[in-house]
Amino acid sequence: MYEKEMKALSDYYVSLGYEAGRWHIGGEHPHLEECAVRLLAPLQSKRVLEIGYQAGGFAVPVIYALHGDGTFGYTGIDSGEYANSVDGNVIEGFLRKNNIASGKYKFNKGDAHVFLKKLDAGQFDLILVDHYKPLYPREFLTIIKRQLLSPQGYILFHDVLERASKAWVQCRNMCDMFGYSWEMDDNVPGGLAVVRKKSNHTRSQCFLKMAYAQTVILKTGAGMKLADVVAGVKRAIRNRMP
Ligand SMILES: C[S@@+](CC[C@H](N)C(=O)[O-])C[C@H]1O[C@@H](n2cnc3c(N)ncnc32)[C@H](O)[C@@H]1O
Repeated sequence: MYEKEMKALSDYYVSLGYEAGRWHIGGEHPHLEECAVRLLAPLQSKRVLEIGYQAGGFAVPVIYALHGDGTFGYTGIDSGEYANSVDGNVIEGFLRKNNIASGKYKFNKGDAHVFLKKLDAGQFDLILVDHYKPLYPREFLTIIKRQLLSPQGYILFHDVLERASKAWVQCRNMCDMFGYSWEMDDNVPGGLAVVRKKSNHTRSQCFLKMAYAQTVILKTGAGMKLADVVAGVKRAIRNRMP
């Protein structure tokens, strides 16, 4: 599955004169996108957010598979930090060249945390977290706080059996704390955690939990500044349940 699309994408990079280290499509494909497309199939809407799109190894097959669905949309965010990540304009150019209507996808450049903080609640049915591994808990907390996942949606954390194993321990604790269930998809190289909100857990964002999670993330050095923590605690106190 998706072999034709991946070959076309590879050929495109070669045609642009990109050398091997200039782009990378990892061994997790096509298992990762097969899992995503399968999970999205029964959902009423199919809005996808990918944190760390790199060279489009996940994005392109998913867009190919779902662009005909009226409810589908793809949003990607990548800081371009890794040497083998490709500018989003280049990936968009590939899709346009292959007649995939441009209104269905947007590849953004920037830091994931800054980007997520600008998004509105309930925007996505599937969020793939696949960027710098120590930052997974930071992004998960923002997803929870800003309620970025639709009630029926999924969050996928990639590489949780390998490079993201430490970060996943924290994310798993956050699942327990904030009412999310999780299961493992071992078919995906590196391991994939599939996370959902528990339906019987309506409002679990109590301010103490939020403050605790923020502090843990700060302590583990996942990139959150003290000022952010203080602001987060203040916000949590303001929004707390009676
Ligand atoms: C493992 S690769 C992503 C692979 C991609 N999801 C795929 O399936 O082919 C990680 C990507 O995360 C990006 N990245 C690293 N830190 C980031 C950050 N703080 N915000 C956004 N993107 C980041 C890197 O530039 C890199 O392209």
